[in-house]
Amino acid sequence: MGKPQKCPGGQFFPLLVVLVLVLIPATAIRSQSRYYNRSSGGGGGGDGDGGGGDRGCEGRRIHIRELPARFNTELLRGCDAFSQWEVVGGEFCTYLANHGLGPRTHNRSRSWYRTDARLLEPFFHRRLLEYPCLTPDPSAADAIFLPYYGALDALPYLLLLNDNASAALHGAPLARLLRSDRPALLRRRAGHDHFLVLAGPAWDFSQHPRADPPLWGTSFLRLPDLLNLTVLVLESRPPHSRWQEHAVPHPTSFHPTPSPARRRLARAARSPRPTLMLFAGGGASSPSAAAAARPNNIRSAILAECAERPDLCALVDCSGGACAHDPVRYVRPMLRARFCLQPPGDTPARRSTFDAVIAGCIPVFFEDAAARAHYGWHLPRSRYADFSVLVPKEDVVFGGLRIADVLAAVPPAEVRRMRARVLELAPRVMYRRHGSSPDLRAIKDAFDLAIDGVLRRINRRVRAIEEGDPDRIYYQDDDDDDDRNDDV
Ligand SMILES: *[C@@H]1O[C@H](CO)[C@@H](O)[C@H](O)[C@H]1NC(C)=O
Ligand SMILES: *[C@@H]1O[C@H](CO)[C@@H](O)[C@H](O)[C@H]1NC(C)=O
Ligand SMILES: *[C@@H]1O[C@H](CO)[C@@H](O)[C@H](O)[C@H]1NC(C)=O
Ligand SMILES: *[C@@H]1O[C@H](CO)[C@@H](O)[C@H](O)[C@H]1NC(C)=O
Repeated sequence: MGKPQKCPGGQFFPLLVVLVLVLIPATAIRSQSRYYNRSSGGGGGGDGDGGGGDRGCEGRRIHIRELPARFNTELLRGCDAFSQWEVVGGEFCTYLANHGLGPRTHNRSRSWYRTDARLLEPFFHRRLLEYPCLTPDPSAADAIFLPYYGALDALPYLLLLNDNASAALHGAPLARLLRSDRPALLRRRAGHDHFLVLAGPAWDFSQHPRADPPLWGTSFLRLPDLLNLTVLVLESRPPHSRWQEHAVPHPTSFHPTPSPARRRLARAARSPRPTLMLFAGGGASSPSAAAAARPNNIRSAILAECAERPDLCALVDCSGGACAHDPVRYVRPMLRARFCLQPPGDTPARRSTFDAVIAGCIPVFFEDAAARAHYGWHLPRSRYADFSVLVPKEDVVFGGLRIADVLAAVPPAEVRRMRARVLELAPRVMYRRHGSSPDLRAIKDAFDLAIDGVLRRINRRVRAIEEGDPDRIYYQDDDDDDDRNDDV
């Protein structure tokens, strides 16, 4: 289950931040219309239609559909209402700062933020506003982006658990709008060229509309009208079906600019790593109690092993969502560890995998569902053996295999080689701050690769429709990114 994490307590950033936040929506909208005018009206900028910057835009033009404010900016303005729920956290509004990256961890930090994953939606929108191939003309667009902040819109459905029926309604107003307002836009390619971001695991949005009893989640991903859209989520359902979602990395707290990310990665490469393995997660404050509570469980096995071998294993206690917005807790320990353990939590995948990659800590997975099944656009499936270790959870839980034994047996030269591979991949899972320098923009980040993946998928579907080959519409092969697709 993908219940939102509980926020840590504490009053970090009071009034000033709230004031700034209230201004965000207006600023975002203004920068959007500024962009439109520049690209449609010629003049300034140089990357408008017909200008020199147009060359690289073949097959890559994106139109941002204008939606009524209740689908985006009004949700941000209503952030106070979300704070009433304990799982969201009392100061949810503070996380809206910096277009959704959150407030900086401290005054002088330039790259570290208290990022709330749900706010990937406004942040993605903000980054798209600086995308060089935007077009104001939907009929000229290869893809149409819907700036709908759906994970925020879902909060009342998810958290008002006493109201059974409503979770099936999440997304219905959007579907109605697309059907009734300029319906030709959606119909043109049966919706296959539309995409949006839902900043949560697909499990939060895929409950059967008539589930009885209702368990968890809204039914957004099952709305018949929207089944052909591409939806970017933080974790996908098992990919054996024609699901419309594709997973993108969980946002971490690291959003480099303007200082080059390279410096930071060099630091991670040089960092001494006396700790063999690290686990950052819930239950770490009292491992034996947690282990006793859930026998035959990989998390419990890890906690038990770590309690027994504190010389080999470091625990970072993230109980109650303590790490959700507080990178200070885990980044330094991760920089000092060779391997970072990534057992499943409420859902198989976890943000900590991306925290570890950025810290150069080699991820240890216990099943493919932890990452390999999801993030093919960002972490190529063919490279998992080079940058991660897979220890099947059954071998640990039922076979008595000791994780520390497996990891201690990896020769030091191999550990160094894997760490180098991890750090090579790190830029691919970071979300660079908006407005970054050309230097940083030269390297594709998580956002750039998500856009590449979306365009690959949409262009293939549109070709399949045009060529009358419907079987190819849902063909998943291009989702399995590899070197072939690296430089779309
Ligand atoms: C951009 O164009 C729109 C409509 O074409 C207009 O209302 C708006 O004032 C323009 N914005 C700027 C910054 O010129
Ligand atoms: C940041 O700096 C300002 C003034 O320079 C100060 O008032 C404020 O307390 C500082 N905030 C934090 C979180 O340190
Ligand atoms: C939810 O559904 C259950 C069973 O269908 C019913 O007993 C309960 O009263 C419903 N709750 C609300 C708030 O509608
Ligand atoms: C989804 O796409 C398929 C294939 O193009 C089409 O037959 C179907 O009508 C589309 N569904 C909707 C709701 O547009």
